[in-house]
Amino acid sequence: MSLGEGSTPLIRANRISERLGLDVYLKLESMNPTASFKDRGMTIAVSKALEERVQVVICASTGNTAASAATYAARAGLATVILQPAGAVALGKLAQARAVGAQVMEVRGNFDQALAAARELAARGTHALVNSLNPYRLEGQKTAAFEIVEELGAPPDVLALPYGGGGNTRAYGIGFDEWGAGTPLILAGEAQDRGGTVASAIRITEPVHRKYAQRAIEGSGGATVTLTDDAILAAWRELAEREGVFCEPSSAASLAVLSQSDILKGSVAVCIVTGHGLKDPRTVERSTLPPIQVDPEPDAIAEAAIGT
Ligand code: F0G
Repeated sequence: MSLGEGSTPLIRANRISERLGLDVYLKLESMNPTASFKDRGMTIAVSKALEERVQVVICASTGNTAASAATYAARAGLATVILQPAGAVALGKLAQARAVGAQVMEVRGNFDQALAAARELAARGTHALVNSLNPYRLEGQKTAAFEIVEELGAPPDVLALPYGGGGNTRAYGIGFDEWGAGTPLILAGEAQDRGGTVASAIRITEPVHRKYAQRAIEGSGGATVTLTDDAILAAWRELAEREGVFCEPSSAASLAVLSQSDILKGSVAVCIVTGHGLKDPRTVERSTLPPIQVDPEPDAIAEAAIGT
Protein backbone atom coordinates (compact mmCIF):
# COMPACT_ATOMS: atom_id res chain seq x y z
CA MET A 1 0.00 0.00 0.00
CA SER A 2 1.83 3.07 -1.18
CA LEU A 3 1.24 6.40 -2.83
CA GLY A 4 4.92 7.29 -2.98
CA GLU A 5 5.25 8.80 0.49
CA GLY A 6 8.55 9.78 2.11
CA SER A 7 11.86 10.93 0.58
CA THR A 8 10.70 14.51 1.08
CA PRO A 9 12.93 17.50 0.25
CA LEU A 10 15.33 18.93 2.82
CA ILE A 11 16.08 22.49 1.74
CA ARG A 12 18.29 25.14 3.28
CA ALA A 13 16.50 28.27 4.54
CA ASN A 14 19.13 30.81 3.49
CA ARG A 15 17.52 34.01 4.68
CA ILE A 16 16.26 32.57 7.96
CA SER A 17 19.70 31.07 8.59
CA GLU A 18 21.22 34.50 8.19
CA ARG A 19 18.71 36.16 10.52
CA LEU A 20 19.15 33.58 13.28
CA GLY A 21 22.89 32.97 12.87
CA LEU A 22 22.14 29.28 12.47
CA ASP A 23 22.35 26.76 9.64
CA VAL A 24 18.63 26.13 9.17
CA TYR A 25 17.09 23.42 7.01
CA LEU A 26 13.42 22.78 6.30
CA LYS A 27 12.17 19.21 5.97
CA LEU A 28 9.18 19.54 3.67
CA GLU A 29 6.82 16.88 4.96
CA SER A 30 4.15 18.94 3.23
CA MET A 31 5.34 17.27 0.00
CA ASN A 32 3.95 13.87 0.94
CA PRO A 33 1.02 12.50 -1.16
CA THR A 34 -1.73 14.03 1.00
CA ALA A 35 0.47 17.00 1.89
CA SER A 36 1.32 16.12 5.47
CA PHE A 37 3.72 13.89 7.42
CA LYS A 38 0.88 11.54 8.35
CA ASP A 39 1.35 9.53 5.13
CA ARG A 40 4.62 8.01 6.36
CA GLY A 41 2.78 6.10 9.06
CA MET A 42 -0.56 5.70 7.33
CA THR A 43 0.94 3.59 4.55
CA ILE A 44 1.85 0.98 7.17
CA ALA A 45 -1.24 1.30 9.35
CA VAL A 46 -3.54 0.76 6.37
CA SER A 47 -1.37 -2.04 4.94
CA LYS A 48 -1.61 -3.82 8.27
CA ALA A 49 -5.38 -3.26 8.44
CA LEU A 50 -5.63 -4.97 5.05
CA GLU A 51 -3.41 -7.81 6.20
CA GLU A 52 -5.58 -8.25 9.29
CA ARG A 53 -8.70 -8.28 7.08
CA VAL A 54 -10.31 -5.30 8.77
CA GLN A 55 -13.12 -3.72 6.71
CA VAL A 56 -13.30 -0.25 8.23
CA VAL A 57 -10.65 2.11 9.53
CA ILE A 58 -11.48 4.82 12.02
CA CYS A 59 -9.70 7.88 13.35
CA ALA A 60 -10.34 11.02 15.31
CA SER A 61 -8.59 13.94 13.73
CA THR A 62 -7.98 17.64 13.55
CA GLY A 63 -7.84 17.05 9.79
CA ASN A 64 -4.54 15.69 8.52
CA THR A 65 -4.78 12.19 9.94
CA ALA A 66 -8.28 12.09 8.46
CA ALA A 67 -7.14 13.17 4.99
CA SER A 68 -4.33 10.63 5.04
CA ALA A 69 -6.39 7.74 6.46
CA ALA A 70 -9.22 8.35 4.01
CA THR A 71 -6.85 8.51 1.03
CA TYR A 72 -4.88 5.36 1.83
CA ALA A 73 -8.06 3.47 2.75
CA ALA A 74 -9.65 4.49 -0.55
CA ARG A 75 -6.66 3.07 -2.39
CA ALA A 76 -6.87 -0.13 -0.33
CA GLY A 77 -10.61 -0.52 -0.91
CA LEU A 78 -11.45 -0.04 2.77
CA ALA A 79 -14.15 2.18 4.25
CA THR A 80 -13.17 5.07 6.51
CA VAL A 81 -15.02 6.67 9.38
CA ILE A 82 -13.70 10.05 10.47
CA LEU A 83 -14.56 11.72 13.75
CA GLN A 84 -13.64 15.36 13.74
CA PRO A 85 -14.33 18.20 16.14
CA ALA A 86 -17.29 20.14 14.72
CA GLY A 87 -16.31 23.35 12.95
CA ALA A 88 -12.62 23.05 13.84
CA VAL A 89 -11.05 21.42 10.79
CA ALA A 90 -9.36 23.45 8.06
CA LEU A 91 -11.19 23.56 4.73
CA GLY A 92 -8.63 21.79 2.56
CA LYS A 93 -8.31 18.81 4.89
CA LEU A 94 -12.05 18.29 4.98
CA ALA A 95 -12.14 18.54 1.19
CA GLN A 96 -9.48 15.83 0.92
CA ALA A 97 -11.39 13.39 3.13
CA ARG A 98 -14.70 14.03 1.39
CA ALA A 99 -13.25 13.77 -2.11
CA VAL A 100 -12.00 10.22 -1.56
CA GLY A 101 -15.33 9.09 -0.14
CA ALA A 102 -14.76 8.90 3.61
CA GLN A 103 -17.70 9.04 5.94
CA VAL A 104 -17.01 12.25 7.83
CA MET A 105 -18.76 12.77 11.14
CA GLU A 106 -18.63 16.02 13.04
CA VAL A 107 -18.52 15.28 16.73
CA ARG A 108 -20.17 17.76 19.04
CA GLY A 109 -17.10 18.08 21.18
CA ASN A 110 -13.35 18.62 20.92
CA PHE A 111 -10.60 16.41 19.48
CA ASP A 112 -9.91 14.70 22.78
CA GLN A 113 -13.53 13.60 23.11
CA ALA A 114 -13.60 12.40 19.50
CA LEU A 115 -10.46 10.35 20.13
CA ALA A 116 -11.96 8.74 23.24
CA ALA A 117 -14.98 7.65 21.19
CA ALA A 118 -12.81 6.27 18.38
CA ARG A 119 -10.76 4.26 20.87
CA GLU A 120 -13.89 2.73 22.36
CA LEU A 121 -15.20 1.67 18.97
CA ALA A 122 -11.83 0.20 18.02
CA ALA A 123 -11.75 -1.75 21.30
CA ARG A 124 -14.93 -3.54 20.18
CA GLY A 125 -12.95 -5.01 17.30
CA THR A 126 -15.17 -3.69 14.53
CA HIS A 127 -12.89 -0.84 13.38
CA ALA A 128 -9.12 -0.50 13.03
CA LEU A 129 -7.86 2.62 14.81
CA VAL A 130 -5.34 4.47 12.64
CA ASN A 131 -4.56 7.32 15.02
CA SER A 132 -0.94 7.47 16.18
CA LEU A 133 -1.84 5.15 19.07
CA ASN A 134 -1.61 2.53 16.33
CA PRO A 135 2.04 1.47 16.75
CA TYR A 136 2.62 1.12 13.00
CA ARG A 137 2.06 4.85 12.60
CA LEU A 138 5.16 5.78 14.61
CA GLU A 139 7.19 3.07 12.87
CA GLY A 140 6.49 4.84 9.60
CA GLN A 141 6.96 8.35 10.90
CA LYS A 142 10.38 7.60 12.37
CA THR A 143 11.78 7.19 8.83
CA ALA A 144 11.90 10.97 8.47
CA ALA A 145 14.71 10.98 11.05
CA PHE A 146 16.64 8.44 8.95
CA GLU A 147 16.30 10.63 5.85
CA ILE A 148 17.59 13.70 7.69
CA VAL A 149 20.71 11.91 8.93
CA GLU A 150 21.34 10.34 5.54
CA GLU A 151 21.08 13.67 3.78
CA LEU A 152 23.08 15.79 6.24
CA GLY A 153 25.62 13.03 6.85
CA ALA A 154 25.05 13.32 10.63
CA PRO A 155 22.18 14.18 12.97
CA PRO A 156 21.56 17.94 13.16
CA ASP A 157 22.33 19.78 16.41
CA VAL A 158 18.70 20.83 16.82
CA LEU A 159 15.36 19.45 15.67
CA ALA A 160 12.35 21.76 15.92
CA LEU A 161 8.78 20.60 15.40
CA PRO A 162 5.17 21.24 16.42
CA TYR A 163 3.83 19.34 19.42
CA GLY A 164 0.17 18.37 19.37
CA GLY A 165 -0.53 14.88 20.67
CA GLY A 166 3.21 14.23 20.77
CA GLY A 167 3.26 11.19 18.46
CA ASN A 168 5.56 12.80 15.93
CA THR A 169 7.98 14.01 18.59
CA ARG A 170 8.08 10.48 19.93
CA ALA A 171 8.59 9.05 16.43
CA TYR A 172 11.62 11.28 15.77
CA GLY A 173 13.03 10.27 19.15
CA ILE A 174 12.71 6.60 18.17
CA GLY A 175 14.17 7.24 14.73
CA PHE A 176 17.33 9.05 15.90
CA ASP A 177 17.74 6.53 18.68
CA GLU A 178 17.56 3.57 16.31
CA TRP A 179 19.93 5.17 13.81
CA GLY A 180 22.48 5.30 16.62
CA ALA A 181 24.51 8.39 15.69
CA GLY A 182 23.12 10.60 18.45
CA THR A 183 19.94 12.56 18.96
CA PRO A 184 19.60 16.27 18.24
CA LEU A 185 18.30 18.62 20.86
CA ILE A 186 14.55 18.32 20.37
CA LEU A 187 12.62 21.59 20.68
CA ALA A 188 8.89 20.92 20.55
CA GLY A 189 6.53 23.88 20.08
CA GLU A 190 3.11 23.72 21.69
CA ALA A 191 0.38 26.33 21.52
CA GLN A 192 -0.08 28.48 24.60
CA ASP A 193 -3.81 28.13 24.02
CA ARG A 194 -3.92 24.41 23.33
CA GLY A 195 -7.72 24.39 23.27
CA GLY A 196 -8.25 27.30 20.88
CA THR A 197 -5.08 28.11 18.92
CA VAL A 198 -5.18 29.40 15.34
CA ALA A 199 -3.02 26.34 14.58
CA SER A 200 -6.06 24.05 14.40
CA ALA A 201 -4.01 20.90 13.68
CA ILE A 202 -2.50 21.07 17.16
CA ARG A 203 -5.69 22.06 18.95
CA ILE A 204 -5.33 19.20 21.42
CA THR A 205 -5.68 19.63 25.17
CA GLU A 206 -4.64 16.15 26.29
CA PRO A 207 -1.56 14.92 24.39
CA VAL A 208 -1.91 11.11 24.40
CA HIS A 209 1.84 10.62 23.91
CA ARG A 210 2.84 13.18 26.51
CA LYS A 211 4.83 10.81 28.74
CA TYR A 212 6.96 9.45 25.88
CA ALA A 213 7.22 12.74 24.05
CA GLN A 214 8.51 14.45 27.21
CA ARG A 215 10.96 11.61 27.71
CA ALA A 216 12.30 12.08 24.17
CA ILE A 217 12.52 15.85 24.58
CA GLU A 218 14.18 15.80 27.99
CA GLY A 219 16.45 12.87 27.11
CA SER A 220 17.78 14.92 24.18
CA GLY A 221 18.54 17.91 26.40
CA GLY A 222 15.82 19.85 24.60
CA ALA A 223 12.68 21.59 25.79
CA THR A 224 8.98 22.13 25.23
CA VAL A 225 8.46 25.68 24.07
CA THR A 226 5.15 27.49 24.56
CA LEU A 227 4.05 29.63 21.61
CA THR A 228 1.49 32.39 21.27
CA ASP A 229 -0.66 32.51 18.14
CA ASP A 230 1.12 35.73 17.17
CA ALA A 231 4.49 33.97 17.29
CA ILE A 232 3.13 31.08 15.20
CA LEU A 233 1.64 33.43 12.59
CA ALA A 234 4.83 35.54 12.42
CA ALA A 235 6.82 32.38 11.67
CA TRP A 236 4.18 31.25 9.15
CA ARG A 237 4.54 34.57 7.34
CA GLU A 238 8.34 34.49 7.40
CA LEU A 239 8.46 30.99 5.93
CA ALA A 240 6.13 32.02 3.12
CA GLU A 241 7.45 35.49 2.33
CA ARG A 242 11.17 34.95 2.90
CA GLU A 243 11.66 31.33 1.92
CA GLY A 244 8.73 30.61 -0.42
CA VAL A 245 7.53 27.82 1.84
CA PHE A 246 3.75 28.01 2.27
CA CYS A 247 2.76 25.79 5.17
CA GLU A 248 -0.19 25.52 7.48
CA PRO A 249 0.02 27.49 10.74
CA SER A 250 0.79 24.48 12.95
CA SER A 251 3.84 23.67 10.87
CA ALA A 252 5.27 27.13 11.47
CA ALA A 253 5.50 26.26 15.16
CA SER A 254 8.84 24.69 14.26
CA LEU A 255 10.36 27.98 13.13
CA ALA A 256 8.61 29.91 15.93
CA VAL A 257 10.45 27.67 18.38
CA LEU A 258 13.84 28.45 16.81
CA SER A 259 13.08 32.16 16.80
CA GLN A 260 12.44 32.27 20.53
CA SER A 261 15.10 29.82 21.75
CA ASP A 262 18.66 30.60 22.73
CA ILE A 263 20.68 28.30 20.47
CA LEU A 264 24.44 28.21 20.02
CA LYS A 265 25.33 30.25 16.92
CA GLY A 266 26.29 28.18 13.91
CA SER A 267 24.25 25.17 15.01
CA VAL A 268 22.64 23.02 12.35
CA ALA A 269 18.88 23.10 12.92
CA VAL A 270 16.14 21.24 11.08
CA CYS A 271 12.56 22.53 11.16
CA ILE A 272 9.87 20.01 10.34
CA VAL A 273 7.30 21.53 7.99
CA THR A 274 4.50 19.13 8.81
CA GLY A 275 1.68 20.20 6.48
CA HIS A 276 0.98 22.26 3.36
CA GLY A 277 -0.50 25.76 3.39
CA LEU A 278 -3.18 24.91 0.84
CA LYS A 279 -4.91 22.88 3.52
CA ASP A 280 -5.90 26.05 5.38
CA PRO A 281 -6.92 28.81 2.94
CA ARG A 282 -8.95 30.65 5.60
CA THR A 283 -5.76 31.60 7.46
CA VAL A 284 -4.55 33.25 4.25
CA GLU A 285 -7.83 35.13 3.93
CA ARG A 286 -7.59 36.38 7.48
CA SER A 287 -3.88 37.19 7.55
CA THR A 288 -3.03 38.72 4.18
CA LEU A 289 -4.24 41.57 1.99
CA PRO A 290 -7.00 40.75 -0.50
CA PRO A 291 -6.37 41.12 -4.27
CA ILE A 292 -6.69 44.63 -5.72
CA GLN A 293 -9.49 45.15 -8.26
CA VAL A 294 -8.24 46.74 -11.49
CA ASP A 295 -9.41 47.31 -15.03
CA PRO A 296 -7.51 45.41 -17.73
CA GLU A 297 -5.47 48.55 -18.63
CA PRO A 298 -1.67 48.77 -18.31
CA ASP A 299 -1.69 52.33 -16.92
CA ALA A 300 -4.25 51.53 -14.23
CA ILE A 301 -2.34 48.37 -13.30
CA ALA A 302 1.02 50.16 -13.14
CA GLU A 303 -0.50 52.86 -10.95
CA ALA A 304 -2.13 50.33 -8.63
CA ALA A 305 1.17 48.46 -8.37
CA ILE A 306 3.05 51.52 -7.04
CA GLY A 307 3.80 51.09 -3.38
CA THR A 308 3.20 47.34 -3.33
N1 F0G B 1 1.51 19.40 12.43
C1 F0G B 1 0.41 19.06 11.74
C2 F0G B 1 0.21 19.69 10.40
C3 F0G B 1 -0.52 18.14 12.27
O1 F0G B 1 -1.59 17.81 11.57
C4 F0G B 1 -0.28 17.60 13.55
C5 F0G B 1 -1.23 16.66 14.15
C6 F0G B 1 0.88 17.99 14.23
C7 F0G B 1 1.75 18.88 13.63
C8 F0G B 1 1.21 17.49 15.59
O2 F0G B 1 1.68 16.18 15.57
O3 F0G B 1 0.08 15.22 17.21
O4 F0G B 1 2.11 13.97 16.49
O5 F0G B 1 2.31 15.96 17.96
N2 F0G B 1 -2.34 16.35 13.63
C9 F0G B 1 -3.27 15.33 14.13
C10 F0G B 1 -4.40 15.10 13.15
C11 F0G B 1 -3.72 15.53 15.51
O6 F0G B 1 -5.48 14.65 13.55
O7 F0G B 1 -4.22 15.33 11.97
P1 F0G B 1 1.56 15.26 16.89
